[in-house]
Amino acid sequence: MARGETIAGLDIGTTKTCAVIASSGPDGLEILGVGEAPSTGMRKGVVTDLEETVRAIEAATEKAERMAGVHVSHVYVGVTGEHMQSTNNRGVVAVTGEDREVIHADVKRVVDASKIINVAADRQIVHALPRHYTIDGQDGITDPIGMSGGRLEVDTHIVTGGSTFISNVLKCVHRAGLETAGIVFEPLASSAATLLPEEKQVGVVLLDIGGGTTDIAVFADGGVVHSATIPVGGNILTNDIALGLKTTFAEAENVKRTYGSGLMRPDEAEQTFQVKTLDGRSTREVTSSQLRSIVLPRVLEIFRLAKANIVERMARDQVLSEVVITGGGAHLRGIETTAADVFGLPVRIGIPSTIAGLTDTVRQPQYATAVGLVLFGPRGEQAPHLNGQGGGPLAKLWTWFTSIWN
Ligand SMILES: Nc1ncnc2c1ncn2[C@@H]1O[C@H](COP(=O)(O)OP(=O)(O)OP(=O)(O)O)[C@@H](O)[C@H]1O
Ligand SMILES: [Mg+2]
Repeated sequence: MARGETIAGLDIGTTKTCAVIASSGPDGLEILGVGEAPSTGMRKGVVTDLEETVRAIEAATEKAERMAGVHVSHVYVGVTGEHMQSTNNRGVVAVTGEDREVIHADVKRVVDASKIINVAADRQIVHALPRHYTIDGQDGITDPIGMSGGRLEVDTHIVTGGSTFISNVLKCVHRAGLETAGIVFEPLASSAATLLPEEKQVGVVLLDIGGGTTDIAVFADGGVVHSATIPVGGNILTNDIALGLKTTFAEAENVKRTYGSGLMRPDEAEQTFQVKTLDGRSTREVTSSQLRSIVLPRVLEIFRLAKANIVERMARDQVLSEVVITGGGAHLRGIETTAADVFGLPVRIGIPSTIAGLTDTVRQPQYATAVGLVLFGPRGEQAPHLNGQGGGPLAKLWTWFTSIWN
């Protein structure tokens, strides 16, 4: 990546659309601008209103551009939704060059070989992320370039998505006057912003609890082994509160945010507060234990669904050491305790911390995806062999994503 090059990420979420603009400096990426606008045309990763979504993209991007003092033309776009699926696969090729030394072209060929899987006509491969390579039976190789051998194998994590869903998101981006530099499955972006290499090595579960979805990424031995999305997020808590306390969604959201602190802890001192009635004309007294009895079962359900999704896809002997929770849902303080009970693992809250610049603004869990897009987008963190290959527009080098525009 050239020094001073501008990179932008666009996270079009269920509740908010967020644009992040960063620039590559001597110490890595630095954030120059962040812009946010409410999302009213998206539901659980799927476009429900094209015009509203275009408007949100334009508004968020303009704010970020104004803050950064630069104009952006290309963006890395986050995609999510129940249509996203993942699997692990293996590719094998013969090393054919002189001296049987592995070169970049061999790595590209073997990753391409791993992409030969049955993909339904209405789906597309979004990522083929190398986890590790094997040369002549020696496994666990992270960067095979320059090594000698006859048979090169790669284990990859393949992510696919519904082409129609993805093309509708990209259509909105295009109509907002932006070109798509690449698409990134959102939990992978969130992981890039919040997880440390050591955590990925010892085995970590990332849960990004958004408004409409909970995005999952599981890492082990330094690479991603599972990624998925479940169609429940923080908004379902708000719905439950609105129904349970017979109030509006807006008042329920307010209650969740104001009294959410310590909500998950049964030892928290009892509080009493006033909640507006549906017509807004009067208020009703509610206790924190009433609120807890509404919210806790839902939070437990989200974690149990996430755990079931992970357990189903994980090898029995897979060791996982930690859970990291991010996304706006991570603000529900005390949520770590509930997650720790369900997963039986230590839990921490993930904030975007692996990047410099505007730290006060972006060090919030709801920005993990947007920040991660500028980190993961150009670097493709699971593809070390593609790093620093320079020459020509970077986007052309990254064969691990497919864009509907080509
Ligand atoms: N202080 C808070 N306490 C509790 N929940 C909160 C708080 N702040 C935000 N949330 C919740 O976080 C959710 C929004 O998170 P986020 O901004 O990560 O979602 P999104 O990216 O728009 O949606 P998605 O990822 O599902 O497409 C909402 O359900 C919101 O109620
Ligand atoms: Mg999100």
